[in-house]
Amino acid sequence: MTMTDNGSNMTGCATAPAKVILFGEHSVVHGTPAIAVALNLRSRAQVKIKKSDVSHLIVKSPAMGLEVSFSSDRLRTLGQASGSNGNATPLDPIALGFYHVLNLIEMNGFDATLIIDSEIPIGAGLGSSASVATSSVGAFLAAFNGEVDSLQVREIAFRSEELTHGKPSGIDNTVIALGGLVYFIKGQKPERKELSTEIPLVIANTRIPRSTATLVSNVASLFKRKQKAVQNLFDSISDIVEQGLHALLKNDLEDLGELMNINHGILHALGVSHPLLDRYVWVARESGALGAKLTGAGGGGCMIALAENVHHASEIKQELIKAGADAFTSVLTNQGVETC
Ligand code: MEV
Repeated sequence: MTMTDNGSNMTGCATAPAKVILFGEHSVVHGTPAIAVALNLRSRAQVKIKKSDVSHLIVKSPAMGLEVSFSSDRLRTLGQASGSNGNATPLDPIALGFYHVLNLIEMNGFDATLIIDSEIPIGAGLGSSASVATSSVGAFLAAFNGEVDSLQVREIAFRSEELTHGKPSGIDNTVIALGGLVYFIKGQKPERKELSTEIPLVIANTRIPRSTATLVSNVASLFKRKQKAVQNLFDSISDIVEQGLHALLKNDLEDLGELMNINHGILHALGVSHPLLDRYVWVARESGALGAKLTGAGGGGCMIALAENVHHASEIKQELIKAGADAFTSVLTNQGVETC
């Protein structure tokens, strides 16, 4: 345990990145592969914990103007609810993380105050909820154990993601906990690769809010109604992911861009694009992007465009800003959850 303040308090601090899905969002929920990379916009969580009669947690998010107090009864109720049942405040998933960390260390009776902060746009497809859940679990584990095990964090953060999104595939909390590039199939051991060259991406946020849970359930219901047609689309995405991995390993940007364009078309067919996402995709392509697609759940949120190089990325960014987007060039990172 990390003891400070004359031995009675434990403190922990952790940060975690954002994420971008390059290929395979939505179909990944139904068992096909996907590829995601960690993006160097970070969330940060700091916790102070002291021994007490019963467990109690206060979560403060100054940026969201929120402060929520979780009694030991509330923590237990959250822990016993399944899926997204009982998600009364946006900070419930963080409290659920605390509950599971206490279960993991097999101890109880701790009074904790956690402060969270984040540079990641909320609800934009860049994994802000998974990142905050990951850095919070990292901070709790750092306080109790003095270090964080990224695989342990990944597992607990998945419980928080289930509370936030209902039936997530687990790709967001995986790439955010591990960093780098992740080839992911639901229920299988993820393959993580170190990013050795920068992928010159531009990210444009439509600022249109949407719910990942609703979009995931819309695709599931389309799949139910049009099974064969949607299965064919999922199979095509599977093929794009395999070819995309190959192109990434060869650093073949032209091939990557072409695959991104096809993936966007399929996501459109699945009903998860938005007129403004399509517009920004076309602005990027007309500015010479090698490829462009929505990223994450879609329905608003962000699109990504691939440029030939960093200089070109900044030109595409300017065109997207002129078109009204909140656009920036990406910096990817190999650093997943880390103590601070
Ligand atoms: C959300 O970032 C990605 C989705 O595929 C949902 C999921 O994988 O859980 C839309």
